[in-house]
Amino acid sequence: MPTKSNTLDPAKTSGKTQAATQAQKAEPATTKPRVFSGIQPTNNPHIGNYLGAMRHWAAEQDQYASIFCIVNLHAITLPQDPAELRQNTLSLAAMLLAVGIDPQRAPLFIQSHVSAHAELAWLLNCVSSLGWLNKMHQFKTKAGDDRESATAGLYDYPVLMAADIILYDADLVPVGDDQRQHIELTRNIVERFNERFGETFVLPNPLIRAEGARIMALDDPTRKMSKSEPNGAIFLTDPPSVIKKKIARATTDSERTIEFNPNRPAILNLASIYSLLAQQDHARVEEHFAGKGYKEFKAELTDLLVATLEPIQARYNELMGDAAQLDGLLRAGADRVRPQAEATLARAQTAMGIR
Ligand code: TYM
Repeated sequence: MPTKSNTLDPAKTSGKTQAATQAQKAEPATTKPRVFSGIQPTNNPHIGNYLGAMRHWAAEQDQYASIFCIVNLHAITLPQDPAELRQNTLSLAAMLLAVGIDPQRAPLFIQSHVSAHAELAWLLNCVSSLGWLNKMHQFKTKAGDDRESATAGLYDYPVLMAADIILYDADLVPVGDDQRQHIELTRNIVERFNERFGETFVLPNPLIRAEGARIMALDDPTRKMSKSEPNGAIFLTDPPSVIKKKIARATTDSERTIEFNPNRPAILNLASIYSLLAQQDHARVEEHFAGKGYKEFKAELTDLLVATLEPIQARYNELMGDAAQLDGLLRAGADRVRPQAEATLARAQTAMGIR
């Protein structure tokens, strides 16, 4: 049985194998833990994506050797309009830069620009059991009741995700809680491959925060905030009037107090968003709102969201004004990471006897 571990301490997670260490690395050698993460160019990102993932990516660029990817091959596992997909890809790149990702420090690229992702996914398919894939919650949710009509790509989505992570010898994968199972699968694939073909891949660990990893929908605190449910999500591009309306309509409960109580999921979710954006701990937030009602709380939460998003949106609009520059930057990102991806792919091919 593969060992399971959720170690979050980077000092304990440098699981580089001998083969991986000896492999030719295109990027300069680094002693920092390697981070890889990705995001789909479907719709605009929302504050769940921001609080669960994107802001950490930006904040920790110096702490880790990071690589970030816009995963358009994952996006096409569900039907996409080609022109919209192209536009969403550019606009997501602009948003990632606007929240502070610095492509000099952390290469940013488009998944389909590095063909090793799809190639390694095929090799990994050949060591992944159907039994593993049958357990994936995301497939069950996305395929819905009509599973027979779901694409093979949607079913295989997690294996492509494993390829993304493995190609860059990632030690840590910063994601929201909904991706936990996919990273467990990645670990299973790495362990099985290494067992069968000798130490080839690095065993990655998820980096999932205690708070903000599962922001819930504003209109239904039992479901996670999702790009496909606009009423329950605040998108990073939402103007102040829309933010105000969405927060005003956000589900509350019949009590009046602001507290971090798991039995009051709607208020817990809103209070958590406040606490994370204001960078104030729970006690301070509860104290601040003691004796105040939902009206004042919602007004302050709206102001905080607007103040957080305003500078991000200003920078985003500026970047969106120069599509050619964005495109050039993404292509340069792919050129920078491709040699490392190809070196890992070559290692896997050699190990399997097909090179
Ligand atoms: P995606 O595009 O759905 O989401 C991007 C990131 O945002 C996190 N997230 C959330 N965090 C908190 N609350 C929420 N409501 C919420 N919704 C989304 C996600 O967990 C994710 O970290 N399969 C991935 C993309 C991917 C990937 C990878 C990630 C492809 N290859 C390799 C890491 C490594 C996805 O669909 O993310």
